[in-house]
Amino acid sequence: MEIATTAPPPPDLLAGAAESGDLPQFPPAFVWGTATSAYQVEGAVGQDGRGESIWDRFSGVEGNIADGTTGAVACDHYNRWSDDVRMMQSLSMGGYRFSIAWPRVLPDGTGTVNASGLDFYDRLVDGLLEAGIQPFPTLYHWDLPQTLEDRGGWPSRLVPEAFADFVEVVVSRLADRIGTWTTINEPFVVANHGYLTGEHAPGRCSLPEGLAASHHVLLAHGMAMERIRAIAPNASAGITLNFTPAMLTSAAPAALDRFNTIDDLENWWYINPIAGHGYPQRTVDRLGWDQREVRDGDLDLIAAPIDFLGVNFYTRQLIGAVEGEGRARRRRETAMGWEVHAESFGWLLRTLHERFQMPAYFVTENGAAMPDTIRRDGRVSDLDRIAYMREHLAQVAAVIAEGVPVKGYFAWSLLDNFEWAHGYRYRFGIVEVSPHTLERIPKESALWYAAVARSGRLDC
Ligand code: FCB
Repeated sequence: MEIATTAPPPPDLLAGAAESGDLPQFPPAFVWGTATSAYQVEGAVGQDGRGESIWDRFSGVEGNIADGTTGAVACDHYNRWSDDVRMMQSLSMGGYRFSIAWPRVLPDGTGTVNASGLDFYDRLVDGLLEAGIQPFPTLYHWDLPQTLEDRGGWPSRLVPEAFADFVEVVVSRLADRIGTWTTINEPFVVANHGYLTGEHAPGRCSLPEGLAASHHVLLAHGMAMERIRAIAPNASAGITLNFTPAMLTSAAPAALDRFNTIDDLENWWYINPIAGHGYPQRTVDRLGWDQREVRDGDLDLIAAPIDFLGVNFYTRQLIGAVEGEGRARRRRETAMGWEVHAESFGWLLRTLHERFQMPAYFVTENGAAMPDTIRRDGRVSDLDRIAYMREHLAQVAAVIAEGVPVKGYFAWSLLDNFEWAHGYRYRFGIVEVSPHTLERIPKESALWYAAVARSGRLDC
């Protein structure tokens, strides 16, 4: 069955209960957390036997990262994790979403396990549990071992097979303490930015490679689910996808064409196969993809039931006949130029549930890069970030009240960190990390968010 895709209705039809001031309370078991990923925060790239990742290699090439930086030091979370855990505890956080660096655990991508790499995550998990914070590990957040890229990278089937073995190593070690596993973060960005546009590591630009990568990332998810189920049958397991709801802003036929392709690739290419509906056919045809990588049984593996869908949401996109056409309609933007449009978030959560009826949802990322220039008593007074979080959380509260089972929210991000090809130019943290001393200073948004987590209410 093909799922029809449609644009969200115009914004004025979307204003709902969330804006009426009548905010429902969040359920008591709702998980309040923050998120990070290994390459963005850990640093310590040469410590304790970690192998090279595609991001070490890519960020070392001049011109790839806007400010010429790398994640070599980042927030030094690898060495400062226990202070960070204490800080999360003081902020009343109930969950921490982090990722496990494949090259730390298997420096060559396959084969010999680096015991100290695995020990790091063991200590982190224990530290979190002692602090009363649930660990939510993600098994892949973009830091592929360079050795595997050298052997073909995600366009090759070798990578999903190697990933399944990596997952087995990690899950076998941590299964006794982990309740929720996430296989992969944002397959769209892995395949599209890494292999089709080249704006992310490893920087390849090829449509056939991008399409092959897209299938292999999903296959890696399916193979990982199989291993997780075998080793940890009682754990909950799922995947995190990013969504950027698309809105058509022009009646021109060329606009509709662009809309269909962009909307399929960014919003439905991954969830449709996971939900058992295969790849969106009209875009398969339009791109001329012969699906030679798709072997018998792959789609069944990809469609094995998940316990939750992780949803990353930041913004919507307005699509006209040519790129940038809808820009003038934007009323508010973040420092990165991403439109602030919380109603699209509510639309997305409702639509996902209507179409796919997943057993549960976690908002695994949501947040905003803001200028962070206003200071009060030495602290960042980020009222614009608080407004962003409040509006988006109001949408979450509204859809929960309508019956969409959203179980938790992870603010992106705990810390200001290495924002991929942008380097350290944009700061998403609710906690400031001083670029020179790496000192952590909670912004006003962190204190506000802690009050929300404690009360389960948004009127803090
Ligand atoms: C998401 C990534 C995350 C972070 C945010 C801003 O696409 O998953 O690592 O960079 O965007």
